Amino acid sequence: QTDIPAIRDVVTEFPVGAAITAAETVGAHGQLLARHFSSVTPGNALKWDATEPTENTFRFTDADPLIAYAKAHGMAVRGHTLLWHNQTPAWVFTDPAGAPMTATAADKELLLARLSNHIRTVAAHYGTDIGVWDVVNEVIDESQPDGLRRSPWYTITGLDYIRTAFRVAREAAPHAKLFINDYNTNVPAKRDALFNLVAELRAEGVPIDGVGHQMHINVDWPSVAETEAMIRTFQPLGVEQQITEMDVSIYRANDESFPAPPADRLLRQAAVYRDMVALFRRYAGDITSVTVWGLADDNTWLDTFPVTRKDAPLLFDTALQAKEAYWGVIGRS
Ligand code: XIL
Repeated sequence: QTDIPAIRDVVTEFPVGAAITAAETVGAHGQLLARHFSSVTPGNALKWDATEPTENTFRFTDADPLIAYAKAHGMAVRGHTLLWHNQTPAWVFTDPAGAPMTATAADKELLLARLSNHIRTVAAHYGTDIGVWDVVNEVIDESQPDGLRRSPWYTITGLDYIRTAFRVAREAAPHAKLFINDYNTNVPAKRDALFNLVAELRAEGVPIDGVGHQMHINVDWPSVAETEAMIRTFQPLGVEQQITEMDVSIYRANDESFPAPPADRLLRQAAVYRDMVALFRRYAGDITSVTVWGLADDNTWLDTFPVTRKDAPLLFDTALQAKEAYWGVIGRS
């Protein structure tokens, strides 16, 4: 479909991105990607298990071709992610005797040294080719009294892993915008826990430039008003905000499933994309990038999460044809 407007020509306030794998940079997928998008995020290729599978043996074979593709096409890159509690090899949290690390001074020192080495090496490898990093991913748990996720990072180092991650990232990639990224940031308790953490750390001088809102949402949730409140909450901090992983599930519950996406759900989905993207464009002074978590419905993580069933959360269908959702983003649905 070369007769329809390119998203990147219509939504010009900020880069519009897609999360990708190597297969999506070639053939019909590659053409669709290059035509519509001005930014890419490697969906898995920059995670710790891909880049440092064993200690101090770095591996850039997954990500390098993606970064080269983006560069060749003049696209921005969001680097995702330098630290997470998932897709992180077990050796990271294992002490030299082979036991799980605990909150001792020696384990903490070793873990922070591994973290520094990882961030320094990965960020330096890409230099200015990666302009934005998700430095830490999903560190908030609003059900905890201090709002912090009880990951091994937290139980071994307290808050110091976040301080170290941002400080080392700033040194290794001084040009890059450094983000803290999370999901459900529209939920008031989670949003406020994230706000408090970012406010506290920035007051200490920790170099956090931006807040990433994943925006894994569905046809019924959340409302535009709640999403606008999310954006407005972070305005007093003067940080950039980016929509980093948007998709709109056609499902509302784990036990729903359809043999094919029902037309009424696809129309509802288009209205959600239309209203949300219009909101982000109105807040373009705050929102500096919008990324969808996948190119087309033939490859979406929601096909296996939270349960296995065929979802259709993206802008193009399994045959790479523009959906109603695409027209929503264009503003003509
Ligand atoms: C997902 C990938 O898309 C899947 O391929 C992988 O199996 C699991 O991770 N939040 C994030 C992303 O920050 O890194 C996740 O990506 C989706 C949820």
